[in-house]
Amino acid sequence: MESKCVKQLLGQKPKANLGFYPTPFYRLENLSKKLGINLFIKREDFSGQSLFGGNKIRKLEYLIGDAKEQGAEYIFTFGATQSNHAMQTVEACRKEGLTPILYLVAYVEPDEDDLRSNLLLDKILGAEVHVILKNPGESDAEVDARSVQLAREHMKQLTKEGHKCYEIPMGGANLIGSAGFIDGFVELAEQAAAVGQNFDYLVHATGSGGTMAGLVAGKKLLKHPMRVLSFDVIGHDASYLENSAALANESLEWLGVDERISAEDFEHDNDYYLPGYEMPSDAGNDAIRLLAREEGLFLDPVYSGKAFAGMLDYIKKGIIPQKSSVIFLHTGGATALFAEKEILGDLLEK
Ligand SMILES: Cc1ncc(COP(=O)(O)O)c(C=O)c1O
Repeated sequence: MESKCVKQLLGQKPKANLGFYPTPFYRLENLSKKLGINLFIKREDFSGQSLFGGNKIRKLEYLIGDAKEQGAEYIFTFGATQSNHAMQTVEACRKEGLTPILYLVAYVEPDEDDLRSNLLLDKILGAEVHVILKNPGESDAEVDARSVQLAREHMKQLTKEGHKCYEIPMGGANLIGSAGFIDGFVELAEQAAAVGQNFDYLVHATGSGGTMAGLVAGKKLLKHPMRVLSFDVIGHDASYLENSAALANESLEWLGVDERISAEDFEHDNDYYLPGYEMPSDAGNDAIRLLAREEGLFLDPVYSGKAFAGMLDYIKKGIIPQKSSVIFLHTGGATALFAEKEILGDLLEK
């Protein structure tokens, strides 16, 4: 399918204009020379709507568009206390006149007297924030489920009072949010074509899986040869790829096209997330310093730093061969540089 046809289909969907697109796309000259590859960057961190943009804005354009079409007043969403998605959802709600309510799990416990990073921004934006502390012995999956259960009870109450609520899952990872990255892939493919080069790889961080699902669905629709390498920052079992394929296929169906993907279409790497979500890795912090010192731009320790570290290791091992043309999708998240010390680790020690 041609990109203009995909754009036409996307153009029929309700959408809120939240970001500034297309996001910048350009060559990293110093790192290209140093690494022996042709390295471009796609700046989704420059998506707007504020200084603190990222990949969630593209998803939220469709999610908030749908919420408004359904007449929603309250938007409920989820994440960690330092969730980029949650903060960007609050920004979007403020612009569109909706009321944001957040249920946030404290994987890293915030200091209420010294709020930082996205949680600080959530408060400045005036969001109603419910912080869910982990119970002793409770797993991440259990506390996430409890957070959703509490939010749904809250929604039930508001609905009873005659209000219309709209639920956005963690990371905006549903069929509508993921379709945002079908849009993202089409935009990127057009920018890549415009610089007149063939790109071998697109590298990005994957968490909830919505971005990965949308990118790979977009690649399938355009029959694009560029390989999408997805570096996991959470650590997932085999069901992740099945679920992400199902998500991509729901987005394709929503768009009204016949193409479908399967779990085998993903090139997903689970080897670079350790020691865990919101726990910094030495390689991730090395990557943050490298990009800052060679190119004067910022990655983050939770997502983009770990994905960039994975890419550097692939280059070192020859999995990404010398002279390859590579695009790094910068998905944002640099507010984490102003988060709790546990999230930064030894970033300042070198
Ligand atoms: C900065 C950043 N990069 C990457 C991701 C991963 O995107 P997804 O949740 O769509 O997999 C997120 C998600 O929160 C993010 O905030």
